[in-house]
Amino acid sequence: SNPSLLILPGDGIGPEVMTEVTKIIDWYGAKGGLKFDVTMDLVGGCAYDKHGTPLTDETMAKAQDVDAVLLGAVGGPKYDNLDFSVKPERGLLRLRKEMDLYANLRPAQCFDALADFSSLKKDVVAGLDLMIVRELTAGVYFGEPRGIFEEGNERVGINTQRYTESEIDRVARSAFELARKRDNKVTSVEKANVMESGILWREVVQKVRDEDYPDVELNHMYADNCAMQLVRAPKQFDVIVTDNLFGDILSDCAAMLTGSLGMLPSASLGAPMANGRPKALYEPVHGSAPDIAGQGKANPIACILSFAMALRYSFDQGAEATRLEQAVEKVLADGLRTADLLGEEGVKPVSTSEMGDAIVAALDAS
Ligand code: NAI
Ligand code: MG
Repeated sequence: SNPSLLILPGDGIGPEVMTEVTKIIDWYGAKGGLKFDVTMDLVGGCAYDKHGTPLTDETMAKAQDVDAVLLGAVGGPKYDNLDFSVKPERGLLRLRKEMDLYANLRPAQCFDALADFSSLKKDVVAGLDLMIVRELTAGVYFGEPRGIFEEGNERVGINTQRYTESEIDRVARSAFELARKRDNKVTSVEKANVMESGILWREVVQKVRDEDYPDVELNHMYADNCAMQLVRAPKQFDVIVTDNLFGDILSDCAAMLTGSLGMLPSASLGAPMANGRPKALYEPVHGSAPDIAGQGKANPIACILSFAMALRYSFDQGAEATRLEQAVEKVLADGLRTADLLGEEGVKPVSTSEMGDAIVAALDAS
């Protein structure tokens, strides 16, 4: 049977950018020799409007059942005053939690045509293609004890950095699996010089590599040095694997190496399913952008590149993923720009659908 895909367009520009992804999926079905069983459903504010909840049990069950979930974005001013329990983002949180998506993947990829957009020098970022794997379900954001406590005559704020061997082991495996589909190189990042959890992290990652991934190159780096190296010479990295806190900071830093929010894809992966594929949710990093929703201004590339990640990491279609990324590269090189990518004067922006159509045309010509 065909690989299955659950599409949850969501709110605001979510449905607008997802329409462009659907064109690409249709192209693959008609001309690219790749058919998917696609189901569409509601998440976020639109699900609340229809069902009174941002994610129904039925939709949750579908998400658990498919090979991959592709999500647009959720939220908007209309829902800002809803009770916390039914807010749009609760739909997304429920998906991540119940699918147990512990590895958050944030690529930083620099398309040559946009190298001028980077905050760094062009030659430092041109051709950049790295991936940060952030552990997402443990660490200092969740460890106990946590809270603000009385201690003597003052208060003390406490968070606990806590990692079990199995939590480190599983995210390390995600990183090594990814590296095998890329340049076969992993940099593991912690602060083993000053943190016990860092010592354990380093030990466990090394053990996973030595026992099960001896073909993958592994090196270890302190987090502060990694921050420096990301800005100094980011092309030295292929896959970076790190904990929740360091990953939060380093992935935002890496994202800005390459420019607009409208260009950034992401994936969240969990444990391998019976068919060997990881549980997976793909989504652009951006939100529902209510300020431009309904105007045909949204850049669909972040969502399209999220689908390219699904091709590579869920469907074992690395060559097709590269082909789609090259189609994106081609239209950018041809000078097409949505409004968020405008720098040069005198360039007229294209609409969301014009950008999507051009990418389909570039695929067709490839
Ligand atoms: P946002 O990412 O929606 O927008 C930030 C800025 O970037 C806006 O000026 C927007 O127009 C622009 N932008 C974002 N995506 C773009 C695209 N594809 N093309 C062109 N321009 C783009 O973040 P914001 O404004 O903080 O949040 C808006 C709503 O989205 C809120 O309700 C928030 O809760 C929700 N949100 C949802 C997320 C998700 O579904 N994963 C993530 C972040 C925010
Ligand atoms: Mg952050």
